[in-house]
Amino acid sequence: MKLYLKIWRQTNADSNGSFQNYEIDEITPDMSFLEMMDVLNEKLIIEGVDPVAFDHDCREGICGSCSLFINGRAHGPDTGITTCQLHMRKFQDGDSIVIEPFRASSFPVIKDLVVDRTSFDRIQHAGGYISINTSGNTQDANTIPIRKEDADNAFDAATCIGCGACVATCKNASAMLFVSAKVSQFSYLPQGQVEAKDRVLNMVKQMDEEGFGNCTNTGACEVECPKGISIKNIARMNKEFLKAKL
Ligand code: FES
Repeated sequence: MKLYLKIWRQTNADSNGSFQNYEIDEITPDMSFLEMMDVLNEKLIIEGVDPVAFDHDCREGICGSCSLFINGRAHGPDTGITTCQLHMRKFQDGDSIVIEPFRASSFPVIKDLVVDRTSFDRIQHAGGYISINTSGNTQDANTIPIRKEDADNAFDAATCIGCGACVATCKNASAMLFVSAKVSQFSYLPQGQVEAKDRVLNMVKQMDEEGFGNCTNTGACEVECPKGISIKNIARMNKEFLKAKL
């Protein structure tokens, strides 16, 4: 496959970026999108050009590091996957592909396609801990009865990998889907009740301080989330927040 790439290049956080055009050949449909980027970077290095910086780690949809906006969509043209799980078979020979970083003022660009998502880390830190009695024998997890539906909902919320696709997709750059997933994964479980009030208040406060926008229920975040996190979690977080405030 021959491809025409239009990639956002930016030297550092303080410089103005711009799109640069690249042509790349000998890409096979079985390559992953990031392998295609590797091929491009090898070519650029041989030509003495600075390779394109992009985030990645596990390359199997687990860590949430990869974060590319491809042809106007977070994680590209497929659904339910991360950028590292996207394959070149989703494109045609001769295609033009526009590749940008996740854009949001709370995710400043560090270099090229790499953005600073430590705002998510600070929100999670604000959520604090859960109290567990660790004295004596280790407690068997099965001694605490939990409704199957609650356990499933908590697990579904916990599958959020914090990639930031929800923020990059939302017209308000809202982080409500991410934060609500982190609140919900504990709020469904008895272990999460002890610090429930402080957790939701502190996380929402930190989210606002980081400059994320509010939710206006467009639902784009749910559509583009690689893990299918439901916007029902946002309703749950709002309920938890109101309960804590009152
Ligand atoms: S590199 Fe880990 S999810 Fe893509």
